[in-house]
Amino acid sequence: MPVLPSQRHLWDIPREIAYFNCAYMSPLAREVVAAGAAGLAAKARPWELAPERFFTGSEELRRLYGAVLGADAEGVALVPSASYGMAAATANLPLGRGQNVVLPAEEFPSSVHAWRKRARAAGAEIRTAPRPEDGDWTRALEAAIDARTAVVCTSHVHWVCGGVVDLARLSRATKAVGAALVLDLTQSISVVDPDVAACDPDFVVAAGYKWLMGPYSLGLLWVAPRHRGGAPVEEGWIVREASHDFARLVDYREEYLPGARRFDVGERSNFALVPAAAAACTQLLGWGRASLAETLGAITAEIAERARPLGAQALPPHLRAPHYLGLRFEGGLPEGLVARLAADGVHVSVRGDRLRVTPHLYDDAADVDRLMAALARALGR
Ligand SMILES: Cc1ncc(COP(=O)(O)O)c(C=O)c1O
Repeated sequence: MPVLPSQRHLWDIPREIAYFNCAYMSPLAREVVAAGAAGLAAKARPWELAPERFFTGSEELRRLYGAVLGADAEGVALVPSASYGMAAATANLPLGRGQNVVLPAEEFPSSVHAWRKRARAAGAEIRTAPRPEDGDWTRALEAAIDARTAVVCTSHVHWVCGGVVDLARLSRATKAVGAALVLDLTQSISVVDPDVAACDPDFVVAAGYKWLMGPYSLGLLWVAPRHRGGAPVEEGWIVREASHDFARLVDYREEYLPGARRFDVGERSNFALVPAAAAACTQLLGWGRASLAETLGAITAEIAERARPLGAQALPPHLRAPHYLGLRFEGGLPEGLVARLAADGVHVSVRGDRLRVTPHLYDDAADVDRLMAALARALGR
């Protein structure tokens, strides 16, 4: 796959800013901002806002989310957050007394809280796969699964270290004991292929404001066909049959619209966020997942290589996602490292004992040089 040239011109990022923090929050591209602004402006003149707009924009986004995920759009629900999607998963998967839910250590808090609460109510337990010494999360999760496992819930790419799970293998281990598979793709979607058809998950969630490059408060839930008749988190009007017929909404309809639409959040037609998210997906699809992985992989490989003499260790390339570095330093991270780097115009995160460096197509050679120079300065090298 071709390595893409820098696309920095598509964003409004000052030259003196080197932004390596997509895992925290992607910046919105100019086109995405324009689409959102036009959508917001439309609400200033509601007499021009045709009732069809309650449906056309969200159906287009459903289609685009499906295309970015690599799954059928009928299974996509529009949700405000990964947490909301996880609430649909916990409400619809069976879990009994004495069974367990497997999660990786240091999983994102909203998944942990959701499953802890569900497990408490069911008399089930949480089994946490410990962080693997060798970075192999797939093996760690497989080892935690037993005959009592009812659900395995994991990120595809671990938000702290960038470790990647082999979903095909994990799916086999999960299905071997008849457990459900729930995936959080927030840190992997658009770059690493989950191969939904092959791993056949039950529920998939992804926040939209990181690797989907979209606005805050809009993301996706994908629901396997076997759960599309399940119980939604809310009982909204718009997800019912014939909801487009506004004049007859009081002819209350119990039946839901087909696919996973019943799981859409109330006011999912958001006239500003939906077109912005759609514009971001269109850009992502234009670049293509394989080219993104290749391009971001080349950037992180260079950073890992140049950071090694500074005492930094990354996971080996076959165990980490191409777009994601969680660098550990001999002797730990100095206090205030993130603030010191930010003062030099370099933006990264610290998660646990790792410096998280997550580039995107706006990062070019000058940004990598700025990062390396600032890091050397901050570490006193
Ligand atoms: C793995 C993962 N899941 C979910 C989220 C965000 O969750 P929510 O959309 O519920 O705010 C994050 C944010 O950092 C994350 O890293």
